[in-house]
Amino acid sequence: MAGNTTASASAPLSVIIIGCGRVAEKHLKAISKLKNLELKAVVDVNPDSAKRLLGSVKGFAGTKFYNDYKTAIDEVKPSIVSVTVPSGLHFQIAKYAMEHGCNLLLEKPMTMSVSEAREIFELSQKTGLKLAMGHIYRYLPIVGLVREDIAAGKYGKVTHGTIYVRWGHGEDYYKSAAWRGTWKSDGGALMNQTIHAIDLLVWLMGSEPEEASAMIAQRVRNIEAEDLGMAVLRLENGALAQIEGTTATVPSKHTAEFSVFCENGQLSMGLDSGKPHLNIFSVKPDGKLKKLNGYYIRRQFKEGGLFSYKCALNPHLGIYKDLSDSIIENKAPIADAYSGFSSVDTLLGIYRSAKEGRPVQLPLTDDFNSVDMTGFFD
Ligand SMILES: NC(=O)c1ccc[n+]([C@@H]2O[C@H](COP(=O)([O-])OP(=O)(O)OC[C@H]3O[C@@H](n4cnc5c(N)ncnc54)[C@H](O)[C@@H]3O)[C@@H](O)[C@H]2O)c1
Repeated sequence: MAGNTTASASAPLSVIIIGCGRVAEKHLKAISKLKNLELKAVVDVNPDSAKRLLGSVKGFAGTKFYNDYKTAIDEVKPSIVSVTVPSGLHFQIAKYAMEHGCNLLLEKPMTMSVSEAREIFELSQKTGLKLAMGHIYRYLPIVGLVREDIAAGKYGKVTHGTIYVRWGHGEDYYKSAAWRGTWKSDGGALMNQTIHAIDLLVWLMGSEPEEASAMIAQRVRNIEAEDLGMAVLRLENGALAQIEGTTATVPSKHTAEFSVFCENGQLSMGLDSGKPHLNIFSVKPDGKLKKLNGYYIRRQFKEGGLFSYKCALNPHLGIYKDLSDSIIENKAPIADAYSGFSSVDTLLGIYRSAKEGRPVQLPLTDDFNSVDMTGFFD
């Protein structure tokens, strides 16, 4: 075993980042803000990407570089391996890291197939290593508090939920790396841009998906996978969830919103071109609405302090803090390994439903892989 499964509260936890592209910069910024983490090395097949990443945040220019992840893990023996490579490579690196005793911060989606996601989840159970998923929305301020209150029944029965992720990306984005928009390494707007919002919605609604019905389309982007997807999930508690995810909208106007509707109240949170909005209310006994935005903002500040609001700007800060606390205190991260497995299973159930033109039962009982969608739009 190369890495550490346990750690003391005083010694910093060693970290290596594997994959020095776009999202790695958010990881590096988060690591730079947390005193109990120490970046020991970065890995990339392209030395220029590593150089660019290390130059993007002050104080990291001299960090050790490797071009092979196995050598880096074997030599550095880090406590935490952060996996920020193209999605089709997540499985092999996550598996190698856990088999060598490392905790993981694994970017979404966990893997590209149900069997691989199950294997990674089971490996985390077997080894006791901590695995935090890059499901950023779970780390936004207020959502955790609202989830507790929904689960405690404060809003009554959950009836349904909706999300839209209208995250326009132009051809420049898709052309920036060959893996983007391919069935093998990325998937489309649902698998890449929407999976963490699906994870959040299901988490807030407090029940697992048991059936998916979906359609996907290619509208304007020149990619192999979908640039638009719509799905309906039925959850085990009987609630329905409606999903819209697309990159076919105007790239200069990114909007996303999730809403949960309950018998006695509702919650909506979202972003419109970088501006957050929030609308939470419950119903008073006299039938009037009680606005709860201020209550949650104050409560979040009281319980999470300024740090929790900083996570709104870079949720990876929250993921790293939570992962290091989980290692030190031996508890499950907020976006744990199960959330990685479950969201991949749901997403691939959505793809399978679109492919086969019928509702699909979840969890999937046999394997399904994003590459099984190859040729869907031909
Ligand atoms: N949680 C989030 O908010 C979020 C946001 C963006 C991307 N992501 C996820 O992060 C991952 C990376 O996305 P990105 O946009 O940063 O991609 P990117 O293409 O910008 O960066 C990927 C990097 O990995 C490197 N790489 C490729 N193969 C490698 C290998 N075998 N060993 C080491 N390095 C290798 C590439 O050279 C590149 O520098 C994807 O899985 C994506 O879904 C998550």
